[in-house]
Amino acid sequence: MSEQTKQTARRRTFAIVSHPDAGKTTLTEKLLLFGGAIQMAGSVKGRKAARHATSDWMALEKERGISVTSSVMQFPYDGRIINLLDTPGHADFSEDTYRVLTAVDSALMVIDCAKGVEERTIKLMEVCRMRDTPIMSFINKLDREGKPPIELLDEVESVLGIACSPITWPIGMGQRLKGVVHLVTGEVHLFEQGRNFTRQDSTIFPSIDDPALEKRVGAPAMAELREELELVQGAAPAFDIDEYLAGRQTPVFFGSAVNNFGVQLLLDFFVDHAPAPKPATTASRTVQPTEEKLSGFVFKIQANMDPQHRDRVAFMRVCSGRFSAGMKAFHVRSGKEMKLANALTFMASDRELAIEAWPGDVIGIHNHGTISIGDSFTEGEVLHFTGIPNFAPELFRRAQLRDPLKLKQLQKGLAQLSEEGATQFFRPLMSNDLILGAVGVLQFDVVAYRLKDEYGVDAAFENVSVSTTRWVYCDDPKMLEQFKEKAAGNLALDASGALVYLAPTRVNLQLAQERFPKVRFEATREHA
Ligand code: G4P
Repeated sequence: MSEQTKQTARRRTFAIVSHPDAGKTTLTEKLLLFGGAIQMAGSVKGRKAARHATSDWMALEKERGISVTSSVMQFPYDGRIINLLDTPGHADFSEDTYRVLTAVDSALMVIDCAKGVEERTIKLMEVCRMRDTPIMSFINKLDREGKPPIELLDEVESVLGIACSPITWPIGMGQRLKGVVHLVTGEVHLFEQGRNFTRQDSTIFPSIDDPALEKRVGAPAMAELREELELVQGAAPAFDIDEYLAGRQTPVFFGSAVNNFGVQLLLDFFVDHAPAPKPATTASRTVQPTEEKLSGFVFKIQANMDPQHRDRVAFMRVCSGRFSAGMKAFHVRSGKEMKLANALTFMASDRELAIEAWPGDVIGIHNHGTISIGDSFTEGEVLHFTGIPNFAPELFRRAQLRDPLKLKQLQKGLAQLSEEGATQFFRPLMSNDLILGAVGVLQFDVVAYRLKDEYGVDAAFENVSVSTTRWVYCDDPKMLEQFKEKAAGNLALDASGALVYLAPTRVNLQLAQERFPKVRFEATREHA
């Protein structure tokens, strides 16, 4: 087996999706503990606590180093290399989340057993479904009273439209939680307060028929378990790897992240069954991860890592080949060779200079704004990876400058911050306005704060009469010119120079579409 094939097969690149408070941070921390990446619980939580409130989030983001390390966490486990990509917690950062999901091969869904399927999980699942991303599920907080497990599976099936195949099954819940049964191995893992719940530090019975087990947990608990198992094994499908890989069936685990309970069972199953890096689609062909030549795409940009130098880190997912330190790569959009000097890898314990990276891995490339989201790097071939969307923002504000002499700084700040992808910046063709679009209202606060902090610009955002935007395309150049003339008052350029129609109302947009049937008005722009 070639080194390329071997290294690819070892990789597991995934993200955790959940509604806030379901336990994503806690679970991340436990996974890192198993990977030996952190020594002590608390280090991930500390960061998250500070991220909760907007103001704290901003203060924290100033320590860019921290947020970069937490963006991608790489750790070894059981001979595999796991890349866990962080998705931003706040709903206003959902665009970022969508793009992170383009860079993973599978996802892990965390559900709070008392709350069941929540609104943000539904949204995130929609994105996973669009891409047929395989999903494992962890039903969390079993140490508290929640909905009956069978009802939870029903809810996942009916609300999220994915079949559930339980791999572990709880014995009791809340105060009565006794343990879980592994439905594939038959083993029973007991829940005992204060244990670590590693394989070495758990009480494990070989099967539910072990008489010692009944003595331990009591006859009523066993009777209830047997009844439930009969029901669930009759109704739920057995685990089918093909159905899972196609995104149609989710293996389900029960546990308690904060107690570490049930987590290793999940992790062991995950490394054995979650997919290794998949082939990637480009506009011209499918790229196999086992190809020897390097290729990859940028799915995230983080600006101003070091405010002194205005540098940015572009996060690239390797799709094929091998990256090695200091190598040159072809930046497809500019057509230029770029030296990938000082690229970063993301061992969870620390951020380190990259020595090498393989498909599924993420490297961070320092640059001064030459790299954008959606860009590809290769060893010379022109490849455009598809499916990294740019969403039309839903909220718009006009930037208002308190000190007119700072206009240049403001323009620069807005343009650079929009490179990160969470906001979009428009310059109308007919006016000197600077309009910012965002998917969530919190973004405006964040931008105002960062303009001040990183660019020394005091700006406020005021309402503007734009209700939606569309990227404009037309195959007929003459028609496009005509349209530009007629609609000039509604046209703007986005940060990359692409033409955008700013519609004051939905009706206006509809009329424009009717008047110019040959012009395409697109709600998403794929990064070309
Ligand atoms: P998130 O990243 O998905 O938003 O969730 P996070 O891990 O921060 O967990 C949200 C809350 O749920 C935390 O409580 C966390 O301790 C708690 N939690 C996580 N897993 C379990 C579990 O298995 N059982 C129980 N009972 N609680 C769990 P918090 O009070 O918000 O924070 P903290 O005071 O514990 O730090």
